[in-house]
Amino acid sequence: MVILDGKKISNQIKDEIATEVAQMKERGEKVPHLAAVLVGNDGASLTYVGSKVRSCKRIGFESTLKHLPEETTEAELLQLVKDLNDDPEIDGYIVQLPLPKHIDEQKVLMAVHPDKDVDGFHPTNFGKMALDMETFISATPYGIMELLRRYDVETEGKHAVVIGRSHIVGRPISILMSQKGKAANATVTLCHSRTKNIKELTLQADIVISALGVPHFLKADMVKPGAVIIDVGITRVEDKSAEKGYYITGDVDYENVRKKASFITPVPGGVGPMTIAMLLKNTLLARERHMA
Ligand code: GUN
Repeated sequence: MVILDGKKISNQIKDEIATEVAQMKERGEKVPHLAAVLVGNDGASLTYVGSKVRSCKRIGFESTLKHLPEETTEAELLQLVKDLNDDPEIDGYIVQLPLPKHIDEQKVLMAVHPDKDVDGFHPTNFGKMALDMETFISATPYGIMELLRRYDVETEGKHAVVIGRSHIVGRPISILMSQKGKAANATVTLCHSRTKNIKELTLQADIVISALGVPHFLKADMVKPGAVIIDVGITRVEDKSAEKGYYITGDVDYENVRKKASFITPVPGGVGPMTIAMLLKNTLLARERHMA
């Protein structure tokens, strides 16, 4: 059994990007500049955005955090999005999700200029991804593909079962895994809350990608011996005895499933860190495109 070490691979990717940034600086070029917009004070979002900004510093990117109060109106947020679209200093930016309930998420994501949409959430970029065209691929699915690639995990002709159909993970990873151009070439089954007999399907899977957000959903009796297990779940479970008052757990019953798996991602330290690395990679790509 091999642990797919997302922390290690993401550090390698960040080092590769840092080397490129250092070369840009030497040539006197402007370095990539990522902005992050955060509305409100959701604990998980604060952690993610903080981590993204720290990673920028580490690899030599410029970064800007726009932290707006919970009461921010949709019009105010749309104005900020417009300003970021028009700001030549910003190469790419993200609007951290979820947004407060009074703001129409889709309307905001539609307003982000596709050339600056390093999250790959705009319909133009999602569409290009689905058509196998050059674009910004959303960081989490991109991170999963990169992790599989760097560990030489065989995907061609394999049966991949994806659990969860979210717009930011399940749906795009199911498309990427089936594609020819990204050399995944897997046969994909996409399961969701209305799927009957998920266990019957996961038992047939050579690769299981779980992006559900239900702790310990995938049990050992649901997986085939030798399967590849990718756990995208990141759930905070309250625990007064833990240092932060909570601990993080995935969708997979890791201790038992690992005994049957050929490859498995841990939580934390698997897909999570890869997401940040790929966001930075997209920002580098945005800078390079703006120079071209
Ligand atoms: N919320 C959860 N994941 C993500 C992500 O990848 N990008 C943004 N912007 N928000 C998120």
